[in-house]
Amino acid sequence: MTPQILLGSGFGPRTTASDVLGDRRLDGLRVVITGGSAGVGLETTRALASAGAHVRVGARSPAKAEAALAGVANVEIDSLDLADPTSIDAFAARTLAGDDPVHILLNNAGIMAVPLSRDARGFESQLATNHLGLSSSRRACGRRSSPREARPS
Ligand SMILES: NC(=O)c1ccc[n+]([C@@H]2O[C@H](COP(=O)([O-])OP(=O)(O)OC[C@H]3O[C@@H](n4cnc5c(N)ncnc54)[C@H](OP(=O)(O)O)[C@@H]3O)[C@@H](O)[C@H]2O)c1
Repeated sequence: MTPQILLGSGFGPRTTASDVLGDRRLDGLRVVITGGSAGVGLETTRALASAGAHVRVGARSPAKAEAALAGVANVEIDSLDLADPTSIDAFAARTLAGDDPVHILLNNAGIMAVPLSRDARGFESQLATNHLGLSSSRRACGRRSSPREARPS
């Protein structure tokens, strides 16, 4: 078995998003998160937004995301289907339409152990979403990200 080496981060299985953030403020940062309205992504969105970041959530069902994130400030929801390259390009174009950089891109959305289905191109859905979708999203949204330069002091 591969030896397990502790990272020594101080975090563990019971660590919450608030524990990780501590008293850090993220005002002025623009975050893009895929799947930020369910599961781990929902908690991440809540935590980042509560620390002052502006969080742009890509969701395949914006109506469902609006309901999940009702009452959370600093959040913007937009349509994104990672299994559809046209949707990824359109989401990235809208993300980069203004002058604001993307400081943090969280490629969180994914599916696991789903019944066999294929996207419009014929790719198996998990491969299409988790691998092809993720790398397209990174390429598209990362075109104008400058985390070091743009991070407020
Ligand atoms: N939870 C775990 O134990 C665990 C372990 C290892 C890795 N992960 C990974 O961590 C990430 C989050 O996990 P989770 O447990 O929070 O999952 P989750 O509750 O199932 O949430 C996944 C999110 O991804 C979104 N999504 C799925 N397919 C999408 C698509 N084609 N386009 C856009 N968004 C899509 C979902 O949108 P909908 O709301 O529309 O379904 C949902 O918002 C996933 O990538 C997962 O594979 C999780």
